[in-house]
Amino acid sequence: MNSFLDIHTTDKAELRGMIDAARRMKNARNGQPKGTPDADAPLKNRMVALIFEKPSTRTRVSFDLGVRQMGGQTMVLSGKEMQLGHGETIADTARVLSRYVDLIMIRTFEEATLLEMAEYASVPVINGLTNRTHPCQVMADVMTFEEHRGPIAGRKVVWSGDGNNVCASMIHAAGQFGYDFTFTGPSTLDPESEALEFARAQGVQAIVERDPVKAVQGADLVVTDTWVSMHDPQSARERRHNQLRGYQVNEALMGQAKADALFMHCLPAHRDDEVTSAVMDGPNSVIFDEAENRLHAQKAVMRWCLGV
Ligand code: CP
Repeated sequence: MNSFLDIHTTDKAELRGMIDAARRMKNARNGQPKGTPDADAPLKNRMVALIFEKPSTRTRVSFDLGVRQMGGQTMVLSGKEMQLGHGETIADTARVLSRYVDLIMIRTFEEATLLEMAEYASVPVINGLTNRTHPCQVMADVMTFEEHRGPIAGRKVVWSGDGNNVCASMIHAAGQFGYDFTFTGPSTLDPESEALEFARAQGVQAIVERDPVKAVQGADLVVTDTWVSMHDPQSARERRHNQLRGYQVNEALMGQAKADALFMHCLPAHRDDEVTSAVMDGPNSVIFDEAENRLHAQKAVMRWCLGV
């Protein structure tokens, strides 16, 4: 039984296997209608709980659809409506759910909640985002880069903006998939130093460059995300916007990257804040491929978790 808790805590070869499996499964669907079941139905008779303590569009729909395509069934649960949100412990919730379902995906606030769920569950647990990381998103991003440009190993990836949870997973993935990573943003919103140190320990460059123009030179991929994450207080909005304005991804900044550099954003985006519409809708943007690939990457993650 494998839980998928983070990219840096999952074996490199296993991560590569999941990306390759996701591509094979995507190709095998061959453009069929979205509700068409996969021929092999690997999740037949399996029940999957999808727990959301935060809002979601992509994670909710892509996990639900992915389970259905693989022949399984889902229960989509809101944390607020569960006893979990009214005093029942995480450990007891994990033990109870393990008697009903074969797999648990949870989107939550604190990483400790995810880890406790995984510790006490007797079925695999998948990280659907915490305040600290978002590994499923970055598995889809690696898959998307490679679909468009071939192997990501040895490439230069630049993150411009807030060093948030998606950024942390992208740094972990630099170490595991072998690409160089540059963060550019204000020092108050730096990514966790542990993530940068993890990537460096795997033998790749993981650096901070305050000047966004210098940072994106030679980039194969430029990535950004919303300036105010779901767990950030709305009272911080104005301060963050003031700090981050100089790190907006616009056509001038993209012009400093390689001519064929891709642009990614995990979505939802705030158009013309962290990225201009011209870049989001421009020829180098692959944002909707990223969104689609959440489906395929997570199907591979679920199969790996269940060993099917
Ligand atoms: N990117 C992402 O996780 O989207 P949702 O918040 O809509 O799930």
